[in-house]
Amino acid sequence: MARIVSATVEGIAEAAALLRAGEVCAFPTETVYGLGANALSDLAIQKIYQLKGRPAFNPLIVHVENMAQVRDLVTSIPSQVALLARRFWPGPLTLVLPRAAHVPARVSAGLDTIAVRVPAHPVAQALLHAAQLPICAPSANRSEQVSPTRAEHVAKSLPDVPLILDGGPCDFGIESTVVDLTREHPVLLRPGAVAVSKLIPMLPNLVLPASPGAFLSEGDAHHAPGQMKRHYAPRAPLLLFSDATALPLDRMPSPVGWLVIDPPPAGLMRPSDLIEPLPDDPTLYAADLYAALHRLDDRQVQAIVVQRPPHTLAWLAVLDRLERAAHGSEKAFDSQ
Ligand code: TXA
Ligand code: MG
Repeated sequence: MARIVSATVEGIAEAAALLRAGEVCAFPTETVYGLGANALSDLAIQKIYQLKGRPAFNPLIVHVENMAQVRDLVTSIPSQVALLARRFWPGPLTLVLPRAAHVPARVSAGLDTIAVRVPAHPVAQALLHAAQLPICAPSANRSEQVSPTRAEHVAKSLPDVPLILDGGPCDFGIESTVVDLTREHPVLLRPGAVAVSKLIPMLPNLVLPASPGAFLSEGDAHHAPGQMKRHYAPRAPLLLFSDATALPLDRMPSPVGWLVIDPPPAGLMRPSDLIEPLPDDPTLYAADLYAALHRLDDRQVQAIVVQRPPHTLAWLAVLDRLERAAHGSEKAFDSQ
């Protein structure tokens, strides 16, 4: 079983020693918990893919302490980086840049680019400082499962991780925003914790998806590598609804978990059903979304029904995660 260690100076030193020895460990960031390894060691990177059951085509994000470390990992710094770094780093913005040849290709799943960010969480910063290494870290969950925002979520999803640094719940609760700066125009590859409305003033020519759902369409030219259609998925099938009265509730075994902004119409919920009310604000909603899905899974719900949030730019990151979590569940309750 994974050992959860409080993120004290000693705990951080132990985690740093593990990383320097080519092992992995989990640690908190301001977005979600990450599963870290030395980004310059091909063997250490392989351990991340093995533990997560992650497909080899899905590249990792490299976490660094500062701009100097970014420079060590890339062949050039695109012109927009200085401004973006000053405004958003440390913080939940990931930039895709041209990868330097000495960085193992495996970290980027063979691409000639590399995704980097400077995390804001004090424990992540202390770990980077103690390890003196760039740390590649995907979210610390089994591939396709719900991302972890608490140390216990990591232990549940990845029991074989040798050490989990516990830094309490993550503030943002949703992954970083990923922007590719290696193309003619900057491209939003993954909506996330930095709202698009904050990016546009600094990147007026940012290429956005045609609609929130466009991230999921097959053959999309701006599809982020490794962003699978089914992802962030709880154990129970998850259905998104706009009209609760149209749900196939008679075909759903009890208990059903309701993840809603507004209370469902009277009479629809059965006595054994569970409700997780979430706030009508995209930032606050995102902060509790994964934790709410973990709570419902822990309580063995047989299905999760989620009220579809508004189809607006402010909800883009949340909509993206919900659409992926729902992918493939449509057929679970078909009649016949
Ligand atoms: O908030 C976060 O970013 C968290 C914390 C731990 O930092 N990490 C995270 O990693 O969400 P992960 O592995 O769950 O998602 C990484 C995603 C990939 O699936 C891919 O879509 C994108 O980042 N990515 C990574 N490297 C890339 C590259 N070279 N080019 C394009 N996209 C890349
Ligand atoms: Mg992930």
